[in-house]
Amino acid sequence: MRSQQWYGGDDRNSYIHRAWMRRGLPAGAFDGRPHIAIANTASDLTPCNSHLDEVATSVKQGIWAAGGIPMNLPVVSLGETQVKPTAMLWRNMAAMATEEMLRANPIDGVVLLGGCDKTIPSLLMAAASVDLPAVVVPGGPMLTGHFRGQPLGCGTDVWRLSEEVRAGTLSQADFIDSESSMIRSRGHCNTMGTASTMACVAEALGTTMPGIAGTPAPDSRLLERSHATGRLIVEMIEADRRPSKILTAGSFRNAIVALAAIGGSTNAVVHLLAIAGRLGIPLTLDDFDTTGAGVPLLVDLQPAGRFLMDDLLRAGGLSAVLAQVSDLLDPDALTVTGRPFVEHLAGAQIWDTEVIRPRTDPLLLDAGIAVLHGNLAPDGAVIKPAAATAALLQHRGRAVVFDSIEDVHARLDDPDLDVDEDSVLVLRGCGPRGYPGMPEVANLPIPQKLLARGVRDMVRVCDGRMSGTAYGTVVLHVSPEAAAGGPLSLVQTGDPIVLDVAGRRIDIDIPAADLAARVASTATTAAFAAPTRGWQRLYVDHVMQANTGADLDFLVGSSGDVVTRESH
Ligand code: FES
Repeated sequence: MRSQQWYGGDDRNSYIHRAWMRRGLPAGAFDGRPHIAIANTASDLTPCNSHLDEVATSVKQGIWAAGGIPMNLPVVSLGETQVKPTAMLWRNMAAMATEEMLRANPIDGVVLLGGCDKTIPSLLMAAASVDLPAVVVPGGPMLTGHFRGQPLGCGTDVWRLSEEVRAGTLSQADFIDSESSMIRSRGHCNTMGTASTMACVAEALGTTMPGIAGTPAPDSRLLERSHATGRLIVEMIEADRRPSKILTAGSFRNAIVALAAIGGSTNAVVHLLAIAGRLGIPLTLDDFDTTGAGVPLLVDLQPAGRFLMDDLLRAGGLSAVLAQVSDLLDPDALTVTGRPFVEHLAGAQIWDTEVIRPRTDPLLLDAGIAVLHGNLAPDGAVIKPAAATAALLQHRGRAVVFDSIEDVHARLDDPDLDVDEDSVLVLRGCGPRGYPGMPEVANLPIPQKLLARGVRDMVRVCDGRMSGTAYGTVVLHVSPEAAAGGPLSLVQTGDPIVLDVAGRRIDIDIPAADLAARVASTATTAAFAAPTRGWQRLYVDHVMQANTGADLDFLVGSSGDVVTRESH
């Protein structure tokens, strides 16, 4: 056991390591039994994860039952709705801090407790770089809330209802009235937003107990499966089952197939690229298009569809979805159980074909995230056709350019703004470096005067991200971003923008010589002063572009679990 480097032996150092840990531990706690961290993102300020201490208790009981020694390890937690300016600014910081604490401490393996959007990605990035046996317990979605007899999709219905207020079809008082019904229980967003997507993706990668993704936070089965996960991690340590042995190119292909079949969040693209980067797996942005091509959309969940996560579980869960496309999955990709992922799908059935469609009756034949290139995005951009308006997937329109999100707030609803339903709204200055932190603003609102005319979707182009709970014809993650000198910085209001999703292109239709002669707009970079100290300084100096996962350049790869020097 790695922990024996701390606890084994009779010298002064092992005495110190043992003596300070003798706080109610049973005799024999240091005799070679596995010590297991529970990397716990529970926090009152991460409301989606605030129940994870109870989950940790069940994991602990499972670890004890299997002969291990559990250790609670609070790690950096990010509440998507609470932290400003955007939680993505700290995903890499959370990953780096967790990685260092896993390596620094006397542990042999780790159970990763996450939920809210950035928490599972940061935990997986950390675990991949330390490469100790690791298993994820997704905290689970909340139960479905209702308002005036209608189910509320957490996040998605906030966007929808607020648009209705701006359109004048819902009163401000009714909108505020819905607030107390939006969050019915503990747990993360109940749509197929980023948190639900990352839970499903973590399972498809093979990093969770099979069948756990989507189990609601208040569901008693979550605690039962958490207990089982505690037992499993002890077995994983005995079998030396590390992330580098489980996560392969095939695991990532499975995750991409799952992402398409569930109609998952575009945020999974940057997270999967970052996790793969930690493992040295050469995953590229284009792999999302090629692997996702031809994968049918089988799940009718908000934001693209009708139902919510509780319905998905009732209808058979992720296993029932992936059983429909098992021929597209890598038969050799393993899970934390040591067995192939596809083995765990045997016998999975659909119990409600309204929520989970059979392969023979998909919602969409080709649900993969489309990766676009062109003179506006030389290194790539993405669009989620499943969340877009089909008629807008081939579109030509005049650019209306905004240099920052503040510029949007100041001018978007100006009655004199020169915009119509065919315009293409372009927002720049929202990339990893330019904002900094790549916020979820790409689905910028429809101008009020167009909302009043009944317009509910327009083509939008941005170097930022979009909430997984959002929808619309949005071209996002444009790389390179404007602040890194990408052509997005050259666009001027009035330029014709051509979106051709079938041809996988996004272009400014002006002569190449004219584009080359242009000077980048300085308004975008002037909107924010460059950070001079702290994490933000480190981040802007080292963050990579979205098309490679927006990790820090010096965090790519692994440092393993070895610590060679002693503190005493
Ligand atoms: Fe935490 Fe949506 S805000 S998952």
